[in-house]
Amino acid sequence: MSPRPIIEPFRIKVVEPIRMTDAAERRRILEVASYNLFRVRAEDVIIDLLTDSGTGAMSAEQWAAMMRGDESYAGARSYFRFAKVVEELTRFAYVFPTHQGRAAERILCDVIPLRGRVVLSNGLFDTTRANVEAAGGEGIDLPLADALTAHRAFGGDMNLEVFRATLEAERERTAFVVMTVTNNTVGGQAVSLSNLLAVSRECKSRGVPLVLDACRFAENAYRIRKDERPDMTLASIVHEMFDACDVFTMSAKKDAIVNMGGMLGVRDAALAERVRVDLIRTEGYPTYGGLAGRDLEAIAQGLLEVLDESYLEYRFAAARYMARALGEGGWPVVTPVAAHAVYIDATAALPHLREEDLPGQSIACAFYLAGGVRTCEIGNLMFGDGERRPQLVRLALPRRVYTQSHFDWVAAVGAELALVRDRLPAMRVVDAPSALRHFTARLEPAGPFPEL
Ligand code: F0G
Repeated sequence: MSPRPIIEPFRIKVVEPIRMTDAAERRRILEVASYNLFRVRAEDVIIDLLTDSGTGAMSAEQWAAMMRGDESYAGARSYFRFAKVVEELTRFAYVFPTHQGRAAERILCDVIPLRGRVVLSNGLFDTTRANVEAAGGEGIDLPLADALTAHRAFGGDMNLEVFRATLEAERERTAFVVMTVTNNTVGGQAVSLSNLLAVSRECKSRGVPLVLDACRFAENAYRIRKDERPDMTLASIVHEMFDACDVFTMSAKKDAIVNMGGMLGVRDAALAERVRVDLIRTEGYPTYGGLAGRDLEAIAQGLLEVLDESYLEYRFAAARYMARALGEGGWPVVTPVAAHAVYIDATAALPHLREEDLPGQSIACAFYLAGGVRTCEIGNLMFGDGERRPQLVRLALPRRVYTQSHFDWVAAVGAELALVRDRLPAMRVVDAPSALRHFTARLEPAGPFPEL
């Protein structure tokens, strides 16, 4: 008898129709979109795995909480509910709502002087890096050298040896250190509690602030509970993760399971004062930040729901299911599988292409053409700095949105494509802006995509 499946621990109350397209239509759509999937209209997509950010389905309790939103300008009841939940979760003294994660990053980079200084990280997300650079600083990633190939339980860790050496060499210039959990740019790999605590100790001994990029804190905490600290509860792991840090930024669009929102937490009263002034100038009054009262209610409720073990167990099971199906279909995937996405190793998948041929974008376009599946390249198109880095395709999994048969569709498309993957063409950038180019760049294939 096969083991019982791990089921979606929810029923569906509201549905959104999916418009089916055919291959000929998708060819035209992709050409008009200049082979950039960000330029494709969502209604022309069958399964949208572009991102897990802001794409989750809210629960009945979250929608009900929205109706209780207090839209008073100052001191709204919804703010106090938000603040209570966040304080219980993070134990941070000062928490400021922002309209999304990058606003929190931008404020942090406004209030901590960065000109001529460096920010060290296990892996900066692209908006975090862009904010550091816009403030005149330099972001330096120090991930494990073999993070994507060694199949370590915690491939998202900071490379401690290199970190210590870099911190020593850059001790005058280091403005702060960022630990991103989970490590989105490194295959979504989790960070171990021991690594986070070791980084925290280094930072404390040198008086350098440690910032937690906490947007997928619950998924990271679950991995710690499963593979490192089964003796601890999820709540106590979350406490230890936040306790290790001086500041946190959080996009609520991930593990708070809302469509919009973010926050910035600090412990230091003087820093909080600078944040408050900046927030009022750019986002809004401190009891609403960049958000409506109803958004704060939904975030508070989402943060309560995300640490439910059956939800997290299902979430990881769904990602593993997808990864296994793609792997059986012939695609090399990064393991252990992250929760928020399955990553295809595009370099290994398309050995006939060089890194500058953008193999990840070629695979992403092929998935769209073959089955209307929208994914995201995380490689040379996204970063565009000519550095050598893993070329990945991310199939991000929106929270509580797709069911197993949707994943079966993606797997079937993948299996068909795997048979012709040695004929996927190189991609060239035709024109692109100087920063964050993957969002708007225009591309073209060097040759035709194979017919299925
Ligand atoms: N930090 C990480 C690790 C992220 O993954 C993101 C967003 C942000 C910060 C910024 O948050 O979007 O609310 O401003 N990641 C999305 C993604 C966009 O697709 O991975 P935001």
